[in-house]
Amino acid sequence: MSDGSWYDADIKQVIISETEIKDKIDELAKQVAADHESVPGGLLLVCVLKGAVMFMADFSRALGRCGPPAELEFMAVSSYGQGTTSSGVVRILKDLDRDIAGRHVIVVEDIVDSGLTLSWLLKYLESREAASVEVVALFRKPGAVKVQVPVRYVGFDIPNEFVVGYGLDFAERYRELPYVGILKPEVYTRT
Ligand code: XMP
Ligand code: MG
Repeated sequence: MSDGSWYDADIKQVIISETEIKDKIDELAKQVAADHESVPGGLLLVCVLKGAVMFMADFSRALGRCGPPAELEFMAVSSYGQGTTSSGVVRILKDLDRDIAGRHVIVVEDIVDSGLTLSWLLKYLESREAASVEVVALFRKPGAVKVQVPVRYVGFDIPNEFVVGYGLDFAERYRELPYVGILKPEVYTRT
């Protein structure tokens, strides 16, 4: 956060730096690759848009260097309204483009908060008869411990604050930040 980009002025604190994110993704990809060395049919990565878009792009390429072949699928679901707390109501905005029956699926998630979104998604993917469904989440908040969602791979446990950057937004902004940070309080009250 020293290159003078416009967004630096809106960030109160950087939680995870660009380098930390990169190193962690390489580590996660190596773990996933080692655990799925000879998975039949390769892996099917399911990215949950829009938040996980950066993670999917970087994770899939890291996996490509060390792992089994992978195919990339995208879904969009909505669990938040305009606010910043989970509603538990999940809507499919974009469904999978193909049949996933018999496939080994890895859900590529940006952040697990209450776990409500993920728990709904896992049931949905299982109902479509995937051979296995596992999750790699780059960030996890403390609230996630309250819900029983099996997240096999976790990048970072972060504080219970609303964060932006690296795909995560506030009102659709800040997704392009290369790091993850906390916004200054005045940003929320700006009109
Ligand atoms: P739940 O509570 O269902 O929420 O696990 C998961 C989804 O909520 C979004 N989310 C956030 N988005 N900053 C964001 O920009 C945050 O701090 C945050 N916490 C949760 C995100 O879309 C995630 O998939
Ligand atoms: Mg969001």
